[in-house]
Amino acid sequence: MKKVQDHYFSKAKKENYPARSVYKLEEVQKKYRVIRKNNHVLDLGCCPGSWSLYAVKTVAPAGIVTGIDLQPVKVKKLTLPSFEFIQADIFAELPFLEDRQFNVVLSDMAPRTSGNKFTDHVKSVELAIRALELCGSFLRQGGNFYCKVFQGEDFPGFAADVRKLFKQVKVVKPKSSRSESREIFVLGMNFTGFS
Ligand SMILES: C[S@@+](CC[C@H](N)C(=O)[O-])C[C@H]1O[C@@H](n2cnc3c(N)ncnc32)[C@H](O)[C@@H]1O
Repeated sequence: MKKVQDHYFSKAKKENYPARSVYKLEEVQKKYRVIRKNNHVLDLGCCPGSWSLYAVKTVAPAGIVTGIDLQPVKVKKLTLPSFEFIQADIFAELPFLEDRQFNVVLSDMAPRTSGNKFTDHVKSVELAIRALELCGSFLRQGGNFYCKVFQGEDFPGFAADVRKLFKQVKVVKPKSSRSESREIFVLGMNFTGFS
């Protein structure tokens, strides 16, 4: 039986994060400094808000985090001038982002799981591809990208696309990501663009 309240669950509760997923970002941040002070960060699929909350602390004092999700974020701690929330589907047009440029694009997006591994994998890759497309429009040259994907047969193709656009790419399975979970994370550092 799955341990519902594991170490990371309790740690998140103690540290006032709404989800244990924060440690999947923290581990990579500690190792690679994906986000820096004063950065502008775009957090795709930001609900319930752990990554955004962590990013807001990391970009202080002058950075901004923009979170997008289908669902509203309800974290009081995110009612700050350094956080803006947009409720939207990332497949829709995103006119409010027009002319904006970010130093970092994060995506912890996940589809509503169906129980069918293949279907869930395909939907997850679609989200990841859309996140990568959004890098083309909104990520600054030299910027970083950190994106979750459910593993499966289309994963190598996605990782290859990321490799074409970033100088350095790592595939990461953070310790806080459950071993039984098919999720894996792609980190692209130093964006060179679609040119
Ligand atoms: C695992 S949660 C993200 C957790 C978040 N990183 C945190 O630490 O609190 C995945 C999120 O992706 C969002 N999502 C899935 N498909 C989306 C879409 N098409 N557009 C925007 N958000 C989407 C879901 O609504 C869900 O809130």
